[in-house]
Amino acid sequence: MKAMLCNAARGSYSVGAFNILDYNSTKAVVQAAEETKAPVIIQTSAKTVIFWDTAPIISWVREIACSSSVPIALHLDHCKDLDLIKKCIELGWTSVMIDASSKPFEENLSLSRQVVKMARPKNITVETELGAIVGVEDDIHVKEQEAHLADPAQAIQFCREVEPDCFAPAIGTAHGIYKGEPKIAYDLLEDIAAKTKVPIALHGGTGLADDVFKKCISLGCVKVNISTQLKYDFIDGFIDYHNSHNIQYDPLKIIDAQFHRLKEGIIEKIKLFGSASKA
Ligand code: 13P
Repeated sequence: MKAMLCNAARGSYSVGAFNILDYNSTKAVVQAAEETKAPVIIQTSAKTVIFWDTAPIISWVREIACSSSVPIALHLDHCKDLDLIKKCIELGWTSVMIDASSKPFEENLSLSRQVVKMARPKNITVETELGAIVGVEDDIHVKEQEAHLADPAQAIQFCREVEPDCFAPAIGTAHGIYKGEPKIAYDLLEDIAAKTKVPIALHGGTGLADDVFKKCISLGCVKVNISTQLKYDFIDGFIDYHNSHNIQYDPLKIIDAQFHRLKEGIIEKIKLFGSASKA
């Protein structure tokens, strides 16, 4: 993933990181990347990894990615559990995120450093987080009153001491569905990106306006996370097809409709992030 993000920084675009749920959604991510000739990140939440276990995920990704002509990374999203991170590193994930952002600063530093130490000899990319991003990301719930932006001085110290490959500072975006218009701290993003010089991940991608993505990408976001959009398309793609063809009990047709709904939404985002034709 690190090489993809460095290329994105040089080319002033962003790589989409899409949270998959199963084989069908993994196939939709890769097919969308193939059709747009884009590098792509298949992202798994810790909850999804625990639900399926590691072996099935690795087997789908190997089977689908190995026959693909575009660069594909497999990334573990927001994980607090060092044992699960270790297991994913050993079993084939190409990058991992340690999310110790709910811990006091010193503890976040120490846990993040431990993961870098574990991952770097194996050439596995590490993403870290600072501040608290509001909303629900699978098993991680951050209430509005607990959310806070990353502190710029702490961000600089954190990146200097931890040396992450990718950094997710809380800048005002939210996981899940936005309740109002998000207030993005663009100055903070610009300041952190310029002073840390670490590739920045933009979390909470679902529901952001096109101009917000474009501005964040211009200020240094080289990875954009999209999860909730896939959850909606996964369920609505299935239900909508069934509702309009409810005399047919043909699961393969519903699975195919779900696949196309997911793929079209992902293609739209890849084009918006500027990564089409960058494979
Ligand atoms: P959304 O669910 O808001 O798209 O956020 C995704 C994300 O940031 C995953 O880490």
